[in-house]
Formats: sequence, C-alpha cells, structure tokens
Amino acid sequence: AFEVKTLLAAAGMTTLDPGFANTAACQSEITFIDGEAGILRYRGYPIQELAAGSSFLEVAYLVIHGELPEPGQLKEFSEQLQANAALPPELRAMLDAFPRNAHPMTLLASAVNTLGAFYADSTDPGDAEQVDRATMLLLAKLPTIAAHIYRNSIGEAPVAPDESLDYVENFLRMTFGELSGEAELDSLFVKALDLLLILHADHEQNCSTATVRVVGSSQASLYGSVSAGINALFGPLHGGANQAVLEMLEEIRGLGGDVDAFLAKVKDKQSKTRLMGFGHRVYKNFDPRSKEIKGLAAEILDRQENPDELFELALKLEGKALADSYFTDRKLYPNVDFYSGVIYRAMGFPTNMFTVLFAIGRLPGWIAHWREQRLDPAARIARPRQLYVGHAQRSYPGRV
Ligand code: ACO
Repeated sequence: AFEVKTLLAAAGMTTLDPGFANTAACQSEITFIDGEAGILRYRGYPIQELAAGSSFLEVAYLVIHGELPEPGQLKEFSEQLQANAALPPELRAMLDAFPRNAHPMTLLASAVNTLGAFYADSTDPGDAEQVDRATMLLLAKLPTIAAHIYRNSIGEAPVAPDESLDYVENFLRMTFGELSGEAELDSLFVKALDLLLILHADHEQNCSTATVRVVGSSQASLYGSVSAGINALFGPLHGGANQAVLEMLEEIRGLGGDVDAFLAKVKDKQSKTRLMGFGHRVYKNFDPRSKEIKGLAAEILDRQENPDELFELALKLEGKALADSYFTDRKLYPNVDFYSGVIYRAMGFPTNMFTVLFAIGRLPGWIAHWREQRLDPAARIARPRQLYVGHAQRSYPGRV
C-alpha cells in the first residue's frame, strides 16, 4: 500500500488495467470493430463486402494505403510482389540449417527478423522510401519463406516462386507443388485461402499488432517489429488457437466423440481447459469472421469424398456450447479460429502450419499499424507503468 500511494502521488494518477482491456494506446484509422454488434470494417468497408468482392491483395493494399487500388495500381503492386518473391540463397541456406521438426512459427519469426540483415538498406524507419521497400519485400517474401519451411519439414525440395501465378495460388503451389489435380477444387482452395487471408488481414489492437506497435515505438525496424508480432501471434491464446482447436477436436475424438464429457471438463475450472476457438476480448455476441468461415468450411467439406469427422465434431460442439448457459452467460461464441483449422486441414496443411497462414493474412495489418504509428505526431515510446506491490525498503542481510 505504501508503494501504491507513492506512485499515485508521484504520477498524478495511474490506472491498473491488466491486459490493457480498457486502455486505448493510440488513435487509428485502419479498422473499426463494434464487439457488441459484431461489426468489422477495414478502412470503412464492411468485411462481408470485401470478402465478397475483393482479392487478398486488394485488401492488403487497402489496409496499408487507406484506399482500394485502381486497376493499374493493383497490377503494379502485384507485379512487384511477384518479381520479389524469391529468397536470397543465404536465407534459404539458413532455413535449411534449422532442425526439421522445429515449429514453423519459430522459423518464420527468425527468417523475418533476418530479412533486416539481408536488406539492411530498408531498415531505417525515418526514411519513407526504405519503409516502402521493406513493406514490399515483406509482403513478397513471407509466403515464400512459409512454403520453404513447410517443404523442409516434410523432407521435400522447396518449390521456387512462379511469377505467372497470383499471390495466393503461387503460395499454394510453392507449398504443395501440385494441388488436388482437379481444376474446380483447386480454384475452390485458392478462393478459400484468399477469403481466409482477407478475414485475418487486420483486427485493430490485438496482441500481435499491439506488439508490433510497442516494438516499433522504439523506432525499431519494420522487420524486427513484425518478427516480434509473429512471436506474439504464436501463443495459443492468440493465433495459436487455430492449431489448438484441431488438437482439442482430436482429444474429443479420443474420448469417443463425447462432446458432453469434454464440455463438462471445460466447465470444471480446476481442469484449466478452455474451449479453444471460443470467446473473444472484443466480440461479445458473435465474431463476424466466424460466420463467413463456417459457410466456406461447409462448402469445402461437402466436396470431400469422406466427411471429415472433426468437422462433424466441431458442429456438434458448437451446437452444444451455444445451448449451454455456462457459455452464453459468459458471452462465449465461436471466433475466427473455430472453423479455419478445419478448412486448412481439408486443403492438406498440417496443424503446425495453421498459425503461419494466420501470419500471412495478418501481415498487411501489422505493416499498416507500424506505418500509421510512424507518421503519428502523437506517438511516443510505449512505456506502461505498474503498481509496485513488492517489499518496502529493507536492508541487505548482515549490513544492518
Ligand atoms: N472456454 C471456457 N471458458 C472461457 C473461455 C473459453 N474459451 N474464454 C473465456 N472463458 C471464461 C473464463 O474462464 C472467465 O470465466 P469467469 O468469469 O467465470 O472467471 C470468462 O469466460 C471471461 O474470460 P477472460 O479470460 O477474462 O476473457 P478474456 O477476454 O481475457 O479472454 C480469450 C479472451 C483469450 C480469447 C479467451 O476467450 C480464450 O482463452 N479463448 C480460447 C482461445 C482462443 O480461441 N483464442 C483466439 C482468440 S481470437 C484470435 O486471437 C484471432
């Protein structure tokens, strides 16, 4: 109590706000969320309209530059990314040196940080041209890095980028070499991944974006800031949740599909088990992204020869949880991650790549926030306070 009083006296007023749930650290023009009404807009455009009418690259441009691109601008943007997708041989060699069984997110964060070493002439946050170059290089190379990591993990030779393919299709080809081999299903996969990336493109001050801003506030480079954001995203309470959802569904399958037994375990707080893919700090009625994704999951899984048992389990789990007052009283609804993993699985991605896909989608948001902060005259180095609750002054033993 003594220290708290001291701090309050010294600083005027300090708010204790764990998780910054009630603290706005900046003003932003990028993304609007109304958690009660389930509204999400990028630069004023409702997510549903962007999902229906835009490609991921258009949305990336919009999120970063504030306006939808004119056709000529989109063409130039896309061509620049295609032309810069290849990785320097030394970076490829670095990726090849990592243990094969390392988690892809660990490697992704390392590789992005290392881009700052290979492209040191684009690391100065004070130079607008360097910032534009770092923006372009990150967008161009992240999918190539991700695909390279995946190919190494399965012991297959990496596939070089193909300049004739668009962003999402190129990434899928670099990852799988061949897709399903069936043209209609291939284009459904491209459409599905494009949509998932759009839905992940930004989400205002989520944990990873706030991390990018905090690191960037010290005038660290875009590469270093995004690398920190990737590490924040990796945690199971954030982007790691899409992997955790699949692991949870596997666990329920191991219980013989007994959804009730699993929900009882979640409701027993002692078990410290959460219903992964449920709940959100901001959305307290529904997550608009999860509605778009659920329809897509049904469309893709309909096309599969054998129904995916885990998708069936997910539907059953959602139905039971939404009918249970434990979850509705706490306003716990499916979030963006609940069904995304089921779709990624149908496409052939292993669970440890799910969060990497989230990172590819979220990259435009991280970049946009870092750039916005850079130009914000009110921006200051992030430096929260604390309420000290430790010992009052005491003497070192033997020196009294
Ligand atoms: N399963 C069971 N209970 C939950 C869950 C859950 N998924 N989420 C919250 N609760 C309960 C808490 O136990 C708490 O109950 P209490 O009031 O009886 O103590 C209450 O709901 C409030 O929970 P908080 O932890 O205070 O909610 P917070 O806003 O801090 O957490 C979070 C939000 C981290 C998303 C949480 O809901 C969660 O852990 N969800 C599962 C992980 C997940 O899906 N994360 C992805 C989020 S979306 C994204 O990052 C893209």
